Amino acid sequence: MAADETSKPVEVLVSVARDGGRTLGSQIETQLRDAVRAGRLRAGDRVPSTRDLAAQLGVARRVVVGAYGQLAAEGYLTLRQGARPCVAESARTPVPSPAQPDRAAATPRFDLRPRAPDVSGFPRTEWLRCLREALRTMTNADLGYGDPRGAEPLRWALSGYLGRVRGVAADPGRVVVTNGYSQAQGLVCRTLLARGARRIGFENPSHPEQRRIAERAGLTVVPVAVDDAGVRLDALERADVDALVLTPAHQHPTGAVLAGDRRRGLLDWLRRRDVVVIEDDYDAEYRYDRAAVGALQGLDPDRVVYAGSASKTLAPALRLGWLVVPPSMVAAVADEKDLADCGTAQIEQHAFAGFLSRGELDRHLRRMRARYRRGRDRLLAELAHALPEATVRGIAAGLHATVELPDGYDEHAILREARRRGIDLTTMHGFWIPPTAGPPTLLVGYAQLPVPTIPDAVRALADAVRASAR
Ligand SMILES: Cc1ncc(COP(=O)(O)O)c(C=O)c1O
Repeated sequence: MAADETSKPVEVLVSVARDGGRTLGSQIETQLRDAVRAGRLRAGDRVPSTRDLAAQLGVARRVVVGAYGQLAAEGYLTLRQGARPCVAESARTPVPSPAQPDRAAATPRFDLRPRAPDVSGFPRTEWLRCLREALRTMTNADLGYGDPRGAEPLRWALSGYLGRVRGVAADPGRVVVTNGYSQAQGLVCRTLLARGARRIGFENPSHPEQRRIAERAGLTVVPVAVDDAGVRLDALERADVDALVLTPAHQHPTGAVLAGDRRRGLLDWLRRRDVVVIEDDYDAEYRYDRAAVGALQGLDPDRVVYAGSASKTLAPALRLGWLVVPPSMVAAVADEKDLADCGTAQIEQHAFAGFLSRGELDRHLRRMRARYRRGRDRLLAELAHALPEATVRGIAAGLHATVELPDGYDEHAILREARRRGIDLTTMHGFWIPPTAGPPTLLVGYAQLPVPTIPDAVRALADAVRASAR
């Protein structure tokens, strides 16, 4: 056996008691035997050398040699000259294999769900470079818990990026780095509750998980109607709320972009009613018909909590999000973050800071925007052909379109037929706040479909729609 294999330290959970009861050797034997029988140690697993285990337990080496000899004689361990002792093949215990996800079911033929970007375009090389650079330059102090608001280089980099690209008034001291938008919203909801808020408005329709986050924090969700121009001002006037969650850049899930007069009316309402808005700037990086409109936060940084995420620009797996918080809320939100998890992973934060500062996100988005735009145009052309009776909306921005079908279609039946054809699909159903319901509508994401496969995907989708009506 190679020298490095025998010299790698291995640890096992064994302890001995010197209370005059059983001998030290028999205690070691019993624990290792039990571990093998229970499957905690499996055939082929290495165990510590006799020298190492003796040192770990503070016993004479001959005690461990004796115990290992007994276990080898019983067929639990394999001992060979010069090789690390290991659990014998003959000791193989039938270990129940963890439930494996059904790969066929997990990989649909066409993934039309609007949740994720095209992660096959994730800039692995550039990210790796930034990770290496982070590890090379981080000090020992940087490897501690750090400021709960997040690593300073990232708060500075986000402040510059958000100011430049989204018009956010983002002093680095007011930036709080989070594990995605979902955590960010939870932190703000708990802060608002502690300050006396009880009722929080959500666009109707809106993402059910985000409503659950608010409810879990202790707030009561109040529906606020939206239409093709975003949140409705008359609905806001009627809503008796202390706070509001909005997706102005691309209403989720209708895809409406908040119209200019609505933005002005909304800001006026905020000031009159002294309400705090959480601006979920999800999808803001993808605007196709014209240049993106800046974030609301830039117009009223004392009442708007800005929230962003890397989930749609890079990958949900990063779990990186950020808040820009009004000055009066910074300490409380930072405290919530500290209580939640003592801060987001520091090495990734430093890597992301480098990624932003080097302009890698700008480069990545320029490339992806062009690819998504081609996907969107192709999708629209194919839908017009294959489902001419549908009304397609929400296409000015984001990574999905809403496809409204005439009354009489049943979303559940379409989902069933889609599944039979290997299509993963989302419909509007779960997004409405009960008892509201709307016309049958499909949410068709185009980010995860390679552009050349879009015609086939739309044909299969149209087949599912037709079959559902039979
Ligand atoms: C409306 C909306 N905002 C934000 C997010 C991003 O959440 P996270 O950053 O936690 O991945 C999602 C993800 O599904 C979403 O649907």
